[in-house]
Amino acid sequence: MHKNNQKVVLIGTGDVGASYAFSLLNQGISDELVLIDLNEKKTIGEVKDLNHGKTYAPSPLKVKAGSYEDCKDAGLVVICAGAAQKPGETRLDLVDKNLKIFKSIVDQVMDSGFDGIFLIATNPVDILTYAVHKFSGLPKERVIGSGTILDTARFRYLLGEQFEVSPTSVHAMVIGEHGDSELPVWSTADIGGRPLSMLLDELPNKDEFMEKTYVNVRDAAYEIIEAKGSTYYGVAMGLARITKAIMSDQNAVLTVSALLEGEYGHDDLYIGVPAIINKDGIREIIELPLNDVETQQFSKSVETIKNIQNPFFE
Ligand code: 2OP
Repeated sequence: MHKNNQKVVLIGTGDVGASYAFSLLNQGISDELVLIDLNEKKTIGEVKDLNHGKTYAPSPLKVKAGSYEDCKDAGLVVICAGAAQKPGETRLDLVDKNLKIFKSIVDQVMDSGFDGIFLIATNPVDILTYAVHKFSGLPKERVIGSGTILDTARFRYLLGEQFEVSPTSVHAMVIGEHGDSELPVWSTADIGGRPLSMLLDELPNKDEFMEKTYVNVRDAAYEIIEAKGSTYYGVAMGLARITKAIMSDQNAVLTVSALLEGEYGHDDLYIGVPAIINKDGIREIIELPLNDVETQQFSKSVETIKNIQNPFFE
């Protein structure tokens, strides 16, 4: 395996990258963090700012600004670099710009001799994760996208608010594209062992609640981008959660973007699905027993990604 499993290299120190670095420091995840960005001045500023928080951090984290050479012995390379969504743009609008940026980044990481795990956050995340898998030649298990980790969090938060239960006790997932074609999996969700379908039946406005919740999850990013320019805390917490599952070899089930090779009846794309994550990356994709409507919605989501992705990889 990797020479130093606990070393993380972060490429891209914009809003998402910087928030991710702060989450690692705050939660005591990993013991070494190297920051790389084209904007070296900002990176040095971020390193100083993070170092000033170390006195009050739960565990020591070595933070420094570095270069691609640092990827050589890293356990994890996290990519948050690239153009971000502007108001009115969808995540899929970014594909052309970010594929070019990613080719150059992944080539430089691989030239260092990197042999660890990639974690990708940049949008459109499913397509860019597929690109990293292709560009790097690394096994599929070691290329992971943030996928629907954040959409799942948004869904669990909203269900937690409705039923007055901590989102940590809500077991529910969003799968599919991290984008407009994603789907909440209502049929397998539960709170405290009670199927969500049972709890929903008790609501006077069940259909309205389900529609509103789905739309809220799907459109959350648009609303936040409209209000404050970009989204970063939520996704950073999701990235930190995935990092913890890798660093602590947790075998945690998280919804990430993983390569399908026959699972759910599809192949040759990265898409958000529940997967078991440990020190080796993706140990296993979990196939949920979707109902007919969900199966159809998932297939549509696959189609959406493939229609955009395929012309670039033929
Ligand atoms: C989000 O969902 C924009 O993908 C980002 O917050």
